Amino acid sequence: MPRVYTRMEEWKMERAAMDRPGLSLGFVPTMGALHAGHRSLLERARAENDRVVLSIFVNPTQFDDPADLGRYPRTLGADLDLADGFADYALFPDRAEMYPDDYRYRVTEGALSTRMEGARRTGHFDGVLTVVLKLLNLVRPHRAYFGEKDWQQLQLVQGMVRAIFLPVEVVPCPTVRDPDGLALSSRNRLLSGPGRALAADFPRILRGSAEPETAAKALGDAGFGVDYVEDHGGRRLGAVRLEEIRLIDNVPL
Ligand code: PAJ
Repeated sequence: MPRVYTRMEEWKMERAAMDRPGLSLGFVPTMGALHAGHRSLLERARAENDRVVLSIFVNPTQFDDPADLGRYPRTLGADLDLADGFADYALFPDRAEMYPDDYRYRVTEGALSTRMEGARRTGHFDGVLTVVLKLLNLVRPHRAYFGEKDWQQLQLVQGMVRAIFLPVEVVPCPTVRDPDGLALSSRNRLLSGPGRALAADFPRILRGSAEPETAAKALGDAGFGVDYVEDHGGRRLGAVRLEEIRLIDNVPL
């Protein structure tokens, strides 16, 4: 089982003992409710590093909707079981540990972060980038693993690492999907049976439409609330609402 740290002062002492030449450290940041998508990141980190750190922190600053934050699944026991054999350490801080400044200091990106997800979820990427920077400073990993499922997040994290010269290699990992094509997400478990069945049409329609506009129309006709469908950097990105649950995905063009 991973060793759990809730106090970051204690973790920092453990981390300091790992400052040895040749010892590599991989890091997988998450918000918990782990599934096979997260596990693919952990597997990759395990294969490429001597030590693997997982973090589980439902980061309040990246939620613009208190209801979404409130119902975000919290499953620590099952998460530790899933990470067993892959992660050596699990950081499980609370809000006060992560935000001693009460979020007075934050990272803001001024272009990509205001589009697509950022346009619908005000301040979302400020919250993401700020917590990722804090976690990278706490963990000081050689490599950090991020899923392509959250394409815009991945671009922004890579951009931040380049912009402020963070000494870490960001490793992008392919999206893990259920057999019917739906990208694994912690939010999928909040869908009803019929909702879950319909959800598989989301990536199918993103892939199968010639233009973003036709995809948006087809999604609306299928019963989704469409937040956006946009082509960006060789990918088609979309977000839809189904049974009050928000799903995001992206596919190569
Ligand atoms: P979370 O949604 O828990 O995702 C943690 C990591 O797992 C992210 O890098 C995400 O892209 C990846 N991931 C999620 N579903 C995946 C799937 N089906 N296939 C492959 N990778 C998948 O993303 C976050 O948490 C947060 O924003 C975080 C970066 C932890 C900052 O709070």
